Amino acid sequence: MENNKPTIQITATGKVVVTNAKQVTLLDAEGQAIPTRNRFSLCNCGKTLEAPFCDGAHKN
Ligand code: FES
Repeated sequence: MENNKPTIQITATGKVVVTNAKQVTLLDAEGQAIPTRNRFSLCNCGKTLEAPFCDGAHKN
């Protein structure tokens, strides 16, 4: 695998981890770009208070 290749991984806990994301644009429901870092995690459990990002609430 290329070291800088954008990768999306669904983890065992349910969060979705995006790495090497400099080339990735995350859009909201209206198509507006949401600022991100080079690595970020998206919530896939629905418990986060920081949607669309995982805030660790899936552990509770
Ligand atoms: S997956 Fe982490 S808060 Fe939902």
